[in-house]
Amino acid sequence: MTATQRAPVGIIGAGPAGLFLALLLKREGIESVVIDSRTRPDIEGTIRAGVLEQWCADLMRDLGVGERMDREGHFHEGITLQFGGERHHLNFVELTGGKQVVVYPQHDVLIDLIAHLEGQGQPMLFSVKDTALHDLESDHPSITFTDPEGQAQRIECDFIAGCDGFHGPSRQAIPRRREFQKVYPFGWLGVLVEAPPSYHELIYSNHERGFALLSTRTPEIQRMYIQCNPRDDLKNYPDERIWEELHARLDVPGHSITEGRIFQKGIIAMRSFVCETMQHGRLFLAGDACHIVPPTGAKGLNLAVGDVLRLSRALTRHYKIGDDSKLRTYAPEALRRIWLAERFSWYMTTMLHRDPDETDFEQQIHVADLAYVTQSRAAATALAENYVGLPVLE
Ligand code: FAD
Ligand code: PHB
Repeated sequence: MTATQRAPVGIIGAGPAGLFLALLLKREGIESVVIDSRTRPDIEGTIRAGVLEQWCADLMRDLGVGERMDREGHFHEGITLQFGGERHHLNFVELTGGKQVVVYPQHDVLIDLIAHLEGQGQPMLFSVKDTALHDLESDHPSITFTDPEGQAQRIECDFIAGCDGFHGPSRQAIPRRREFQKVYPFGWLGVLVEAPPSYHELIYSNHERGFALLSTRTPEIQRMYIQCNPRDDLKNYPDERIWEELHARLDVPGHSITEGRIFQKGIIAMRSFVCETMQHGRLFLAGDACHIVPPTGAKGLNLAVGDVLRLSRALTRHYKIGDDSKLRTYAPEALRRIWLAERFSWYMTTMLHRDPDETDFEQQIHVADLAYVTQSRAAATALAENYVGLPVLE
């Protein structure tokens, strides 16, 4: 026997997109149910992105979940680009008229959101299996799944939000879609290190041995990445080799990065991906379910939250004043902003990495791009306004 429950909005996925959407809807008095196939500790423990655009940090405060971020997050006025053995600072506060970014890890954002939603009695079900979507073209779509006790469940709803990431079932439920993709021939080897910060802000380095990024997590833990072959084996990267590469790519005369115990290592592949469209009947996609950016622009989480801010406004208009116009324009309007973030992430990625398939000519163009962006105030402003985040709603 299938147990059935009803909720105005069924949300598949308890990542940044799904959890922010649940909270945005709750604020408007619109109930939802969130389901996720992973366990809560898995969701709260997966190390991913780290940079929040200013509007996203402001939204956290607005929603009452910004307290720990304000206490423990790192407020950065800009970034440093390193190439040709020199560091160049871009001051975002100056270039954008006061905007900055916050380095606060994604899993901490999720811990704060889940705790807050739980305190507000939000229905959330973790460790579900067999998620399936039904009757999307009707006005009574539903989600079926098996709960952790093995009980078959159905959520009948008015709308389904597909916030289930790149590998979830929601995008597959859109029968006619066009997918745009670029897979990069390099990946990142990311490490977590027990060490004090080596520098007061993020350093993105273009080096002949490949890209490197110096980021941070807490005063005691640092996050560092080196460009690698995405199909390489971690066994080929003993700690000594990682430190050798990090020093070669990030040190400059007088400044050496601080070593410490490496306690986590992982390799991530890099792709750019957009699915058009983001809607089918009563199903709306948001976040990684419909787009992926390479992490060099620090956009993944912010883009997901931008989508659900737009979706929550559209759903609020539906429930509060019976106006569906913003639901109809959700996909084309969201996609305009998504393509701008795709462009910026691609630009940062191609400019900063060494692509083994590129010619020496193309490599020189990337170095010229770096020289331009660090010399011209107009070019620096363009990078800065994209990095701190373009406006979310027109
Ligand atoms: P997700 O965070 O993927 O959440 C989707 C949720 O849906 C997951 O919890 C998943 O368990 C759930 N789900 C999937 N299938 C089902 C199902 N069948 N039923 C129910 N639930 C389901 N961005 C950066 O800017 N910097 C980084 O360093 C960075 N590192 C990353 C590393 C990895 C390994 C990955 C995968 C992404 C990384 N990103 C990074 C991107 C960033 O983390 C994402 O853009 C962001 O998590 C998107 O949020 P989301 O809610 O759309 O999707
Ligand atoms: C991170 O801290 O994990 C991070 C920071 C900036 C990026 C990507 C990842 O562009």
